[in-house]
Amino acid sequence: MKKRVAILISGRGSNMTALIEAAEAKDYPAEIALVISNRPDAPGLASARAAGVATAIVDHTRFGDEREAFEHALDGELRKSRIDLVCLAGFMRLLTPWFVTRWSGRMLNIHPSLLPQFKGLQTHRRALEAGMKRHGATVHFVVPEMDSGPIVAQDSVAVREGDTEETLAARVLELEHKLYPRALRAVAEGRTES
Ligand code: GRF
Repeated sequence: MKKRVAILISGRGSNMTALIEAAEAKDYPAEIALVISNRPDAPGLASARAAGVATAIVDHTRFGDEREAFEHALDGELRKSRIDLVCLAGFMRLLTPWFVTRWSGRMLNIHPSLLPQFKGLQTHRRALEAGMKRHGATVHFVVPEMDSGPIVAQDSVAVREGDTEETLAARVLELEHKLYPRALRAVAEGRTES
């Protein structure tokens, strides 16, 4: 039985598209059953619909400061669709320990750096400023602490002379599109420990 996966997005959704495309392969161990966005205007929603994937919007602004109420709504959507695994892909909300614990060992995130280096935002700029020779991306299980948790897969590119934040980000993003499907495959096949 294929694992039923939900992808949570907030924006462009290029990693989401990479996962949807990978999951179209017959032998892929997961199917993308649902895409949820916390932003009604996320461009990724249209791409998901165009690919024939069910979508839902759980708009965090409707919940004000009630973070857990927002997360209960998210959780409700996931359960309604009988989701086994959750992939965060450019999902720009911090999740509370309540939600993270509920999905512990069943929720992945992709982060554009070689963790544990450069947690948080503006990773490409910070990698350039630090003079890194290599930079990359990491897929990891989500734990309450941001951008931490057991690493599932990691890959890197060489930082080139003259790289800007944009050129480096573009090369890392290309790598992310291969890394996330590979990591999800490993998790769906039970080849990882969380
Ligand atoms: C990616 O760089 C991902 O690593 C980070 O946010 C970005 C999302 O891009 N978490 P996209 O929405 O998947 O195109």
